[in-house]
Amino acid sequence: MREAVQDAVNRVDQQRLWARLMEMAQIGVIQGGGVNRAAFSQEDIAARKLLISWARAHDFTVAIDAIGNLFIRRAGTDPRAAPVMTGSHMDSQPRGGRFDGIYGVLAGLEAIEAMEQAGVKTRCPVELVAWSNEEGGRFAPCTMGSAVYTGANALGDFLEVQDDKGFALRDALAQTLAAMPSAEKRELNTPAAAYIEAHIEQGPLLELEGKTIGVVTGIQGLRWFNVEVFGETAHAGTTPLAGRKDALREAIAAINALHELTRDASDTVRFTIGRVLVTPNSPNSVPSHVMFSVDVRHPDAQTISRLGAAVEATVRKAAARCAVKVTPTLHDDPCMFDFAVVDCVERAAQALKLAHRRMPSGASHDAMYMARVCPTGMIFVPCENGISHNEAENARPEDLAAGARVLAAALLELADR
Ligand code: GLV
Ligand code: MN
Ligand code: MN
Repeated sequence: MREAVQDAVNRVDQQRLWARLMEMAQIGVIQGGGVNRAAFSQEDIAARKLLISWARAHDFTVAIDAIGNLFIRRAGTDPRAAPVMTGSHMDSQPRGGRFDGIYGVLAGLEAIEAMEQAGVKTRCPVELVAWSNEEGGRFAPCTMGSAVYTGANALGDFLEVQDDKGFALRDALAQTLAAMPSAEKRELNTPAAAYIEAHIEQGPLLELEGKTIGVVTGIQGLRWFNVEVFGETAHAGTTPLAGRKDALREAIAAINALHELTRDASDTVRFTIGRVLVTPNSPNSVPSHVMFSVDVRHPDAQTISRLGAAVEATVRKAAARCAVKVTPTLHDDPCMFDFAVVDCVERAAQALKLAHRRMPSGASHDAMYMARVCPTGMIFVPCENGISHNEAENARPEDLAAGARVLAAALLELADR
């Protein structure tokens, strides 16, 4: 490893990174020590402001684009060079943990701050990005910020999406943009030279194998649907069952049929109904309308395609007594990361003498969209018992710092190409 790179890597500060993670974890703190920081909420805005305040302590530029993605740039020596980017997200699940997403953002800040303190020059700018609405827990679907940034979706595809309270994304986004007047405006679809995202593994493999670094090779495919079942409300005490159009009874039949469709002896398919909204949601009224979400994932392109294609027919057949509407909201094919970036991450882990392994990602990440527009890779670090999307999510300060060191070394290599 070059001396200048080693100097920057040595300046990654475990205490500073941990202290910042714990300070961020206070924004939206919930019982059990987790966080609820929904996209474009007041908590999301507070987290963004805190990040900007840390960036402003240096000569970094701060910019924001039309979907609220936040960019913090350390300049390079070649004014025409596209940035090497790193980052993740600051929003959380409703009962999320202290590390999912925010770790990748703060590891990226740690890396560019360490570069600054070491005075190391890079040809390309190195840019930290905090993607908007990665989780999709308030406004579905997930990974919205990177989808719009990379042109996979237009901003207009998402502006009318509403949260459970009927609040439109258009208005929540406007509040978020208005709260950050000092950030420069940044165009969508600007080029990137490369992208590396650091993240907790969100699974148990690294911990089980005693490895510190996961060199991520790609992300499994993911399909999301909203299923609506239209029934008719009626009195629970008087209406004979035979004549009812009970939207919930039909929705349950549909959900059971989807469980059958996705049954898999090898336990590779991932299938989740995570949200069910029942109207009028009263104990003594027959449900007139049910909306439920479908999340189905698989690493193999043909399998995820077959399962995704079968969702609508399966629902229609099982919920035959009611009208149904099936709306696909997300279609991400499995992705393989760029060999050169995967090798670069692996070399950095080797040079730092950290135990590592190659592995695919079961969770989805903004890296999936970035992989469509530039050479991309990811770095995983272990999390306790593989627990994530749970307030008990935990990770060790030394592993988090090790991931930030690998990130700094890999970014420095890519930024000098
Ligand atoms: C991201 O949180 C995912 O759903 O994989
Ligand atoms: Mn995440
Ligand atoms: Mn998540």
